[in-house]
Amino acid sequence: MQSDFVSTVSHEFKSPLTSIRQLAEMLQADMVPSEDKRRRYYDVLVEQSERLSMLIDNVLDFARMEEGRREMSREAVDMKSLVEDIVTEAQHRVVHEGFTVRTELEDPLPSAFVDANAIRQALNNLIDNGVKYSGSSREVVVRSFRENAHIVIAVRDFGIGLAPEEANKVFDRFYRSGGELTRSVKGTGLGLTLVKQIVVAHGGDVEVHSEPGRGSTFSMRLPLVADPSVTHKRGRT
Ligand SMILES: Nc1ncnc2c1ncn2[C@@H]1O[C@H](COP(=O)(O)OP(=O)(O)OP(=O)(O)O)[C@@H](O)[C@H]1O
Ligand SMILES: [Mg+2]
Repeated sequence: MQSDFVSTVSHEFKSPLTSIRQLAEMLQADMVPSEDKRRRYYDVLVEQSERLSMLIDNVLDFARMEEGRREMSREAVDMKSLVEDIVTEAQHRVVHEGFTVRTELEDPLPSAFVDANAIRQALNNLIDNGVKYSGSSREVVVRSFRENAHIVIAVRDFGIGLAPEEANKVFDRFYRSGGELTRSVKGTGLGLTLVKQIVVAHGGDVEVHSEPGRGSTFSMRLPLVADPSVTHKRGRT
């Protein structure tokens, strides 16, 4: 598992780095004559650097969570602005691939006692998956609503979906579906593990509903108020 991990992660790091390097070298050598093409290369540079940052954050934060070294710093957060903010950024990242990421937010949405950065990372991972495993669909919907003493954030896609026996495993560390459709998409199998770690550290839980060929909904259920019995230092989940 360990050496598999090192090789998968290194491989994942390598491909954005290689394209960043190639494009930067071409720009540096003045080998891109058209302004249009240069613009496009700059976009790819930004995009690939963002991808690399997310990957590195995922790996570092996964390790921190595993070792109980990541402290959640929770405060009252306006969930509506937070979710809108994250979705706007995500929409910006994928719009040129013809994707729409849209929100359906209950109004009003209460404030919750959360670590905004951690929730941002978790939601970004869910949106990233919704886009990656979208098959031929080009839409991802982020819903958020109150359910008793919890706030739910659900990410729905209309993509490749998961077989029931796989749905139980997707939150396991390093798990990636064996299907050909998944294999054709890049990933380390850490995103959902991190999502679950973050939600559990908030005293909440995660859920998946999925149907092969029809799409998936991944939900995070977060308690609105901090539960004093949930410590922020955790061992293995
Ligand atoms: N929205 C989705 N639709 C279909 N399958 C999904 C979806 N999200 C996750 N999966 C399956 O669950 C697996 C684990 O997801 P996870 O996000 O943990 O890893 P990953 O996307 O492969 O890599 P990364 O670490 O870059 O996120 C995926 O490889 C895929 O097989
Ligand atoms: Mg992922």
